[in-house]
Amino acid sequence: MPLSWLCILAGFSPGAERSSHIRWMEDESRTAAFIGKTSHWNDHMRIFGIYNIKGGVGKTTTTVNLAFLSAREGARTLIWDLDPQGGTSYFLCIKPKVPGGAKALLQGKPRPEPLVRSTGYQGLDLLPADLSYRHMDRHLTAEGMDDKAALKRFTRLLKPLSRHYDHLFLDCAPGLSAVAENVFRLSNVLLVPMLPSPLSLRAYNRLVRFLNRRPSPRLKVAPFFNLVNSDKTIHRVVIDRVLERHPVFMRTHLPDSHVIEAMGVKRSPLFTFAPNTAEARAYRELWEEIKGRTL
Ligand SMILES: Nc1ncnc2c1ncn2[C@@H]1O[C@H](COP(=O)(O)OP(=O)(O)OP(=O)(O)O)[C@@H](O)[C@H]1O
Ligand SMILES: [Mg+2]
Repeated sequence: MPLSWLCILAGFSPGAERSSHIRWMEDESRTAAFIGKTSHWNDHMRIFGIYNIKGGVGKTTTTVNLAFLSAREGARTLIWDLDPQGGTSYFLCIKPKVPGGAKALLQGKPRPEPLVRSTGYQGLDLLPADLSYRHMDRHLTAEGMDDKAALKRFTRLLKPLSRHYDHLFLDCAPGLSAVAENVFRLSNVLLVPMLPSPLSLRAYNRLVRFLNRRPSPRLKVAPFFNLVNSDKTIHRVVIDRVLERHPVFMRTHLPDSHVIEAMGVKRSPLFTFAPNTAEARAYRELWEEIKGRTL
């Protein structure tokens, strides 16, 4: 096995990171103590951020399927499609449009309740994307707004919704943005889908270091592997090594599968068109594991 693989799998990567000790978020006791506590503005709704620095790793696919399972179990579930690309809105056949756009929304001009759309699936609603979300970072940092003020804008927006929902899923765009930082502060659980590859582990290490520098007392991080091809040696090796050494990773992983990819054509959650497949079983197992370990 190449040396660089071994370095990364051991929790260190070559180059700039060689000299720094990379802390994996495996000290579950440190964060677990805070699970169950809620912030003052939201004493009920559980918030799941779905995030990765990297793009195309399955954030949107995961959001749609886990939120569907959540709703089917009877939890009143809302997805906020925070990505201006509007992937979740597309999968759920809802126009990605918010009157007034990101600026008005963050200023609390339209109240959020009338903007919420029913997906047609019982108990599952969507606050759609809007192309203007691409400017959200600018609105959050404008006029010298500090971190506290930016977070306040989000909490003011979400507070009225928290009375109506048990679970909120935040489908994020990739990248370390001001929006992402607020998602870290708002979420109870940060779901991090990732490929089993050295570059993905490196990106995850960066995320963990970022989170360690700005600890959020309520946040529980739940990384898991997606797009797994068990015919590939590197996928098998990465998964084996990581699961062996880093208990914070979810045991369940999702295969790279044409059945999952078909969601883009069907524009609906996997369970609506392939409920009895191994892929649907994997999502159900993942959801059970996430709930069992983080709620
Ligand atoms: N397990 C899987 N098997 C096969 N295809 C998958 C799987 N998960 C996601 N995909 C496909 O990979 C592509 C990217 O997935 P998705 O849009 O969910 O990723 P993303 O992380 O949200 O991307 P972005 O960063 O652009 O928002 C989509 O075409 C999706 O259908
Ligand atoms: Mg996406």
